[in-house]
Amino acid sequence: MNQPSPTSTADPAVHGGELALAALVLPVTPLTPQCTVAEAGERFLDKENAALLSLPVVDSAGRLLGCITRHELMLRVYMAPYGRELHGRRTVTTLFDARPLALRIDSSIEAAGQLIGRHLRRPITEDFVVLDLHGRYAGMGVVLDVLRALETQVGQHAQELESAYRRLKASQHRLVQSEKLAALGQLVAGLAHEINTPLGYVQNNLSMTRDLLPGAAELANAAAALLDAATDGDAADWQQRAERLAAARAAFDPALFGDLGALLDDTVHGVGQIADLVGNLKDFSRVDAAHTDAVDLHGLIDAALRITGHLLKKRGVQVQCRYGEVPPLRCAPAQINQVLLNLVSNAAQAIDHDQGQIVIRTQTLGGYALIAVQDNGRGIPADVLPRIFEPFFTTKPVGQGTGLGLSICQQIVQAHGGRIAATSNPPSGTRFVVALPLAPNPPQAAA
Ligand SMILES: Nc1ncnc2c1ncn2[C@@H]1O[C@H](COP(=O)(O)OP(=O)(O)O)[C@@H](O)[C@H]1O
Ligand SMILES: [Mg+2]
Repeated sequence: MNQPSPTSTADPAVHGGELALAALVLPVTPLTPQCTVAEAGERFLDKENAALLSLPVVDSAGRLLGCITRHELMLRVYMAPYGRELHGRRTVTTLFDARPLALRIDSSIEAAGQLIGRHLRRPITEDFVVLDLHGRYAGMGVVLDVLRALETQVGQHAQELESAYRRLKASQHRLVQSEKLAALGQLVAGLAHEINTPLGYVQNNLSMTRDLLPGAAELANAAAALLDAATDGDAADWQQRAERLAAARAAFDPALFGDLGALLDDTVHGVGQIADLVGNLKDFSRVDAAHTDAVDLHGLIDAALRITGHLLKKRGVQVQCRYGEVPPLRCAPAQINQVLLNLVSNAAQAIDHDQGQIVIRTQTLGGYALIAVQDNGRGIPADVLPRIFEPFFTTKPVGQGTGLGLSICQQIVQAHGGRIAATSNPPSGTRFVVALPLAPNPPQAAA
């Protein structure tokens, strides 16, 4: 036999970063065109060919002539009556497939998989021939090996995709946090100012109370001493004690007790206000952003207004709330807070005159809770309007806007199964409408 020896394929070849077919080539010695059908049958029984479904027939120049399959031999020769007698002595070329599947050695596994998928019928009865770069016989490939390699590759791709998705999700989370922090940073300055007023009078009231207390204590002590003298009956001492009480009373008029009570009431009120302000801040900086609950939408809006109170006051913006009937809303409150906070701050920031007004309306419509936030600010030009939900789009100076607010609002609203839209009528105002489903699927955390 002067057949070319099959190409050695010990090294896996790489094609465009992917595993190439070369890695899967088996060095199978081909049949000659003179080989008989009976000899071909024998060759299939050889141990080294045990895994093969077909054997190649190659001429002395290494050109592929065809393939004979195990299946064909069984059907036509070994299982057919007189099959061996009829075909056994003829050459394999009488029974072979002259157009077998042949793939170039530098094909990628994916390309091989596609060609095999197009060419093969079920059940799989043949393997494929691998040709070298000059189109000459290089060896055989097993269809199942290609499928296995493809499976591994798909698994790797899935893992890469999965980890890319995780990285994206993490960076998105960081962006959402940074927008939240930027918004909070601006509000904290205002809040500190808000807290200062009640804090001032709480301090003042407490120091007044502290100054009054010794007088009140002396009055009580002098009265008690006089009472003791009255029961003892010691006349001289009684006189002395009465004078002490008179002096104490001159220093601390009992009517002051009423004032003390009022001071303390004020103080309690002030402390309550401080607690509220701090509580608002806590609501907005909650970390369990994905936590869902059935909440009162109007409570959320009120909280957003309280936390933006300073910004609104500073710009002299009046807020009107026209609340309709809205049943408790199942949502992630910390996320909806963030939406409301951004809509109200955007509205306030868009107002640069002293007749500023924001109107917030709510209602239910067709299974949705609708929230409309309307301002009479400068409005959004028609060419800008389509861009406002884009991440990083901002018309505000550095330090005032991150450009992430509305893109995060949209993400949050959509994750709740809702929608957000804006209409504007520059220069006389803008209206944002948020629709949130009343019976949503649990939101996919956006923050
Ligand atoms: N109520 C509004 N009135 C006018 N322009 C608005 C209003 N709300 C949003 N915009 C415009 O949309 C842009 C994007 O808003 P946003 O995503 O919240 O980012 P940022 O507030 O950080 O700029 C703003 O810079 C502004 O130009
Ligand atoms: Mg904003």
